[in-house]
Amino acid sequence: MDHLKVAIGSDHGGFKYKQKIIDYLNARNIEFVDVGTHTPESCDYPEIARNVAELVVSGQVDRGILVCGTGIGMSITANKTRGIRAALCGDTYSARVSRAHNNANILCLGERVIGEHLALDIVDIWLKTGFEGGRHKRRVDIIE
Ligand code: RB5
Repeated sequence: MDHLKVAIGSDHGGFKYKQKIIDYLNARNIEFVDVGTHTPESCDYPEIARNVAELVVSGQVDRGILVCGTGIGMSITANKTRGIRAALCGDTYSARVSRAHNNANILCLGERVIGEHLALDIVDIWLKTGFEGGRHKRRVDIIE
């Protein structure tokens, strides 16, 4: 996780978990950009997802994390940006394999779906796991 730079964003439905994930990143000295939302007021998740996606594909950050109520709206939107491979994860196995096999560059989480401690475990595993390459690179190349 050394030198990893992350962009993080949420709508109001993921606002609480975004703060928890920021606490996690700060505790581990992981550099991040917080694209908002910055208040618990209702807002439009596609704007946030697009901003994180653009930071990732432009190379300004290495990876992104997006949280909304379900994680679904964030993942649908983020995957519309060419070069984004956003993975909506509700378990640690999927989080690990989304990195190892799919080289996912954005993690999406649903605050209204999974518990806080599971969400933080997923973030931890997702950030620590590298892409295995090999046969998986061929498949990711086909996606791209
Ligand atoms: C907001 O109410 C909710 O629709 C949003 O957080 C997310 O779940 C969308 O996919």
